[in-house]
Amino acid sequence: MPIVQAQGKSIECPTGANLRQALLKHGVDLYNDRANIINCHSLGTCGTCAVAIAGPVSPLTWKEKGRLALHPHSLVGSREKGRRLACQVKVLGDIQVTKYDRFWGQGDAIVWSGSKT
Ligand code: FES
Repeated sequence: MPIVQAQGKSIECPTGANLRQALLKHGVDLYNDRANIINCHSLGTCGTCAVAIAGPVSPLTWKEKGRLALHPHSLVGSREKGRRLACQVKVLGDIQVTKYDRFWGQGDAIVWSGSKT
């Protein structure tokens, strides 16, 4: 089974698992600030679950392409930086996840990564 490394945790999940669900189930702080309350719960519309991922995952969905093309992700080039929306991502192998700062996770300062807390 794939291992997801995030916020210093190693999380085992089935191949094809939804990344958002796997992270939240294991207590990872996926959201910045009050986005833990104000989010779309996987509709793919709020964009606050943005993370960077190293390793094999499912391709960008049309929802991700659409949301990453909107403010504020469009202003800072989130898609070009490789950001993904965790709620739309399926885990296909061992991955490392990094969360960046600012409300939507659109910043450039690392909040946590696979190895840091
Ligand atoms: S939870 Fe809103 S886009 Fe992922």
